[in-house]
Order: sequence, then structure tokens, then C-alpha cells
Amino acid sequence: MPDQNSIPHRIQTLTERLHYLNYQYYQNDVSEIPDQEFDQLLAELQALEKAHPELTLPNSPTQRVGGTVTKQFPTALHKYPMLSLGNTYSEADLRDFDERVRKGLEGAEVAYVCEMKFDGVAMSLTYEHGQLTQGVTRGDGTRGDVVTSNVRTIKNLPLRLREAGPPQPPEFEVRGEIFLPLPVFEDLNREREQNGEALLANPRNAASGTLKLQDSAVVAARRLRFFAYSFLSPERNVFPSHSAALEALKAWGLPVSDTWRRCTSLAEVLDFIHHWEKKRFELPVATDGIVVKVDDFQQQEVLGFTAKSPRWAIAYKYPAEAGRTRLNEIQYQVGRTGAVTPVAMLTPVALAGTVVKRASVHNANQIAALDLRLGDMVFVEKGGEIIPKITGVDLTARPEGSQPIQYPTACPACGTALVRPEGEAHFRCPNDTACPPQLKARLEHYVSRKALNIDGLGAETVARFFELGLVRTPADIYDLNAEKLTGLERLGEKSIQNLLSGIEASKQVSFDRVLFGLGIRYVGETVAEKLAAHYRSIDAMLAATAPELAAVPEVGGVIAESLAAWGAHASNRELVARLRAAGVQLALTGEAPQAVSDRLAGLTFVLSGVFEQHSREELQQLITQNGGKITGSISKKLSYLVAGDKMGPAKREKATELKVPIISETDLLAMIPAPGEPTDAADALEAAAPTAPEPETFAAPARPAGQGEQASLF
Ligand code: IVH
Repeated sequence: MPDQNSIPHRIQTLTERLHYLNYQYYQNDVSEIPDQEFDQLLAELQALEKAHPELTLPNSPTQRVGGTVTKQFPTALHKYPMLSLGNTYSEADLRDFDERVRKGLEGAEVAYVCEMKFDGVAMSLTYEHGQLTQGVTRGDGTRGDVVTSNVRTIKNLPLRLREAGPPQPPEFEVRGEIFLPLPVFEDLNREREQNGEALLANPRNAASGTLKLQDSAVVAARRLRFFAYSFLSPERNVFPSHSAALEALKAWGLPVSDTWRRCTSLAEVLDFIHHWEKKRFELPVATDGIVVKVDDFQQQEVLGFTAKSPRWAIAYKYPAEAGRTRLNEIQYQVGRTGAVTPVAMLTPVALAGTVVKRASVHNANQIAALDLRLGDMVFVEKGGEIIPKITGVDLTARPEGSQPIQYPTACPACGTALVRPEGEAHFRCPNDTACPPQLKARLEHYVSRKALNIDGLGAETVARFFELGLVRTPADIYDLNAEKLTGLERLGEKSIQNLLSGIEASKQVSFDRVLFGLGIRYVGETVAEKLAAHYRSIDAMLAATAPELAAVPEVGGVIAESLAAWGAHASNRELVARLRAAGVQLALTGEAPQAVSDRLAGLTFVLSGVFEQHSREELQQLITQNGGKITGSISKKLSYLVAGDKMGPAKREKATELKVPIISETDLLAMIPAPGEPTDAADALEAAAPTAPEPETFAAPARPAGQGEQASLF
């Protein structure tokens, strides 16, 4: 009888319960308990696992929050190559496909399964004894990147399968598509726009970029989702047909979109296509067509493959949605760095599931190339890209007497003459110290999450304060006080207090983020980090010449010129002086952390095999930071052999023979302080730098994609 009060029992109970609640939530849209209670159970399990890492069950639900950092993803061979699909764009092509299939099957009855073609990233998942063991990207079709720790953060993807439905083979592969739900994609882009970052072109790029992020905690916060569409197993005849496999996958708890349908004739296939042509835009996932698959697995085998794709399946691609509407006006938007972007204002037109009122026109050249004129009827297309674009003009409907659009020569906001630096596509307003939209966008950037992240002062509020004349530059934020803010609409006493304490707290934000927050052209997050680490203070950085700046790793000539020009501006010098007077961090505090603890002092380690939670380099670093030593060979004096996956048998034998203890990566990590856990050395560091924020990497995100989010995808 297991002890009902024991810690292993509690870990087991919590693990089971959380797996079940996740299944109910993500597969059945049922929230059995409030978010808060779920979070409490998860936190309890996290705490128990931290205290007893050896008791952590494989694929614990805590892995969903991420936390592992991979420098470089290992690659793996695909057991079955990941092929592509033949594409068709017309019903005639589909008829040809149907004829080829029937001919190949010598006139036998044939049924098809029609599915949506999800526009994301293909993923191969391996399940062994019901446990998710590996996630590999398509790569070149033969070999892909092993991104298991990132895949494990995908909330609707079961880490462990349910024991329901037909029996499961001991090992099999599930293929499907990982995607970023459209509302999440839109949120992400809105945030990027506010931060002055480049927009992501489409959800597919966003999903594939996210999957390759090194920090799985960031992946966890991105809310990726998965849909399964294939089952592959070394055992033949597990299922008679693809439709039976889809049903089994669903019963086992895998997310299978309910949009698929079995069709027994080409007419039914065409019906399916027509049915989803417009309706697909109601789905929260981008789709670009449908996939038609022969249902019967034996028939699939008879039909076989060409070099590139199966003969038993084909993709039908919907034509890019195009619309025709009137161009009423071109507006010119001025961004944070002064770049002027033309935006076409259109008579609203329904397109690809949304009402389109604006379209991007990239720059002046494009206006000329299309010969756009106000009042023109224009063709607008929404292809894979989410922002519609103007693809042409209906010249037959051109209003009489229309004139080519004259690109403005002066800034639409401040009247300063625009410049176009050689080799650049955009006109730019050079008045960076007084042009209102530039000032406003810079304030929004300064308060944004990745910069000063001022609580209670979001982009909207700071923009409002700007309009009211309360703030013009980031330094003005520190002059705000209760007196200035009292009496403003929609700003109660509590909000004011919250805002002022947020401003106060921002004085503790580290120098690299302040530097990023200043919004100097080309100085993004990474460059700001490099500059801060190199110069350690804004004074040292501003004292450097452009050639000196250009010599800093990752800072090229263009960035150096931009920095030098920024520093040469009197108003920027004044800004720095005022921020300094306000107490904002303009230098890094403390020494760069080296030693973390001496818990491994006197111990030697050999690392062998492939590791799951950290790269080998990171483990080496962790060992030395905690006083241990790495050696290359196994000897009697060796303290530990740390065994990863795929360690050679010779090493294991030798260690066993010499009685050297063999430990796992988890055992090793349990020997050293966890990130954030106080140690003597860390205490000393903290005393030197009481304000250093937690490293972002280890901050377990709240449950943004958890039960608070809309559960249902369909
Ligand atoms: S079946 C032999 N089903 O389309 C390929 N693929 O061009 C079998 N895709 O890389 C793939 N939705 O990522 C299949 N319902 C679906 C799909 C689908 C999207 C993607 C898949 C693959 C590409 C094939």
C-alpha cells in the first residue's frame, strides 16, 4: 500500500490531476476549477519537484512553463522522410488527381478524407509508451531540429496520452502542424508595433521563429498550438484507414481539428472545398487550402510515393483573396525614428474574413510604380501576409482628370523638409527632437515592457499625457507628481499612486534596458545589452568615438554612426543629465557575476552524451561557476560521470569498473543552487547590486495561455 501522505504520492496525485485538467480544458473546452486553483496546484507541484527533483515524473505538467535554454538544437534523422504535397489550384486538377487515383487502384471504390491545410510549421512527435519523448522539425525532410523542450510548452499538446480508445502501439509518431492562433499573432504584432519593432509578416513565420527560440520559457508565453493530422508506426495494420487513425488520435487526447470529413466521391470533395472557401476565415488558425487524402491505408500503400510526395494525397490551394475598392486618401505616418510610411485609406471591403479599410503601400517608389491616383479603383489582395496590399489599379475605372500622387516633401506632422538618405527606401523626418509623432512614439517605447516597463503607465496613458502636454521626453516622466495628475479624467487616486510608484520602481531598471528604452535608432535589445556590458556606463559610451563604437562586438558602422550622432545632440545630452538627476540607472551596478557558489569545490566531472535541459556548454559553465572542474577522461579520481542521452557503452563500462558514480543531468542540477536560490556568493552580489532584476530567462511566466484564455479553437 503506498503511503497516502507521502511526497511521492502527492506528486503523483498532482501530476495526474493537472494532466486531466489540461485535457479537459484544451481538448474538451471544460474548465473544471477556477484558474487560481489550477495555478495553486501547479505551484505546489513545482515546489515539490524543486525540493525532490528525483521524484519528478516524466513529462510532468510543470514542463509547460518552460525554463530550459538550448544554445543549439541537436538534429535527428526522420524515421520516415517528411515529404511535401503536390499542389493544385483548380477543380480540373482535382479531377485529374481523382482519375489517377482510380486508375492506380484499378477502378476500386475509393474514399477520401478532406482536411484543412493549416499554415504553420510541420512537426514530428514521437510517443513511447504513451509519453511524448521527442519533437523534431521538418528540416530538409530527412533530418530536422530536435525542439522537444519547446514543443513541451504547447498547451494543447498532451505530454502523456490518455488510456482511452483503441490500444496504443508502444511507439509511434504523430505528425501535425504547430501554429500561432490568429488572435495571438495579432496581439504580438500590436505589441511589436508599440515597441517600434519590425512586424511579423505572417503567423507561419511567427510560429517557426518561436519554435527556434532558445529559451523555452519565452516559447511557453507565446501560446503556440498544435493540430495532429498523421499517424505513423512501425507496426503495420494498426488502423485500417486514416479516418480511423484520426479518431484514435483524438481519443488518446491529441488535438485533431474537427473540420475533417470523409468523402465518398469527388463531388463531396468539391462540396467540402466550397464549404470552407469563406468559412475558413472564421477559424482562429491561418489556412491556405485543403488536403485530400485517400482514406484506406492499403490503398495508400498501393499508390505509393513519387520522389517528393505521396501519390495518395494532394493539396488544393485557394486563390489569394482579392477585392476591388476605391482609394480615397493616402495618409502618411511618422514612426519613432522619423520614417514616413504611406498608408492607403480605402472604402471598406470584405476580404479574407475581415473588413479591409487600409492597405500598406510600402514607400514612394511603389506609389509611382503602381501609378496610384486618388479616386482610383484598386485591387487589394490578402495572401499569406496579413496586411493587405494594393496589387494594381483598374485603369478602366480611372476618374477623369486624376493626377499622379505627389509624395509630400515636408513632414505631415511638423512641416520639416523630408530627407531620403541614399540607398534607403523611406523618406524620413529629420526633426527627431521636436516632431510630435516621433516624440510620442519614443515615450511609448520608453515605457514599454522590454524597456522601463513602468507599472501603471502604458503606451496609451503616456500618449494621452503627451497630448495633454504633461510629458515630452522620458525625463518629464520623472517630474510627474500627484499634483499634476490629480483631476485628470479616468485617473483616480489609486491609479495615480500606482503610477507614481511604478515610476519610482523604474529607477531600479538596469542600464541595458534604459539604453534600449532611449530608442536610439538601430539600438535594439541585444545591441543595448552588448553596449552596456562593454562600456558599463552611458558616460563611457558617449565618450567613445564612432570608430571605437564600431569595434564593439555586434555593433557595426551603421549603429556606431547612429550612436555618435545621438550623443552629439545637445538635447540628448540634456535628457541624459535629467535622467541621471532623477536617479535612473545609467551604469551597470556590481561586478559581472562569476562565481555562484562553491558547492562543487574539489569535485571533477566528465560530461557525456546529449543533454535535455541545458546544452553541454551551459552545463560546463554551471559546473565551473559552482567551483567544480571538468575533465576529459574517466579515471579512478573522477568524482562523477554525468550521463546524457546516447552516451556510448564504453564510457559506462569504464565508469562502472572504476566505481565512478554515474549521475544524470537532473542529479547534477540538484547539486547546485537553482537560479534565484540564495547562496553565499549570490548574497554578496546582491549586497553590491541590490537592484539587479531577476534574469528574464528564469522568470517563470504566469499562466498567460492558461485557463484564462479562450479555450476553444473551434
Ligand atoms: S499531410 C506527405 N495534412 O502541408 C505530406 N499536411 O506540403 C503529408 N499541412 O509540410 C502531409 N495541413 O506541414 C498534411 N492537414 C494536413 C496539413 C498538412 C498542413 C502541411 C504540412 C506539410 C505541408 C505539405
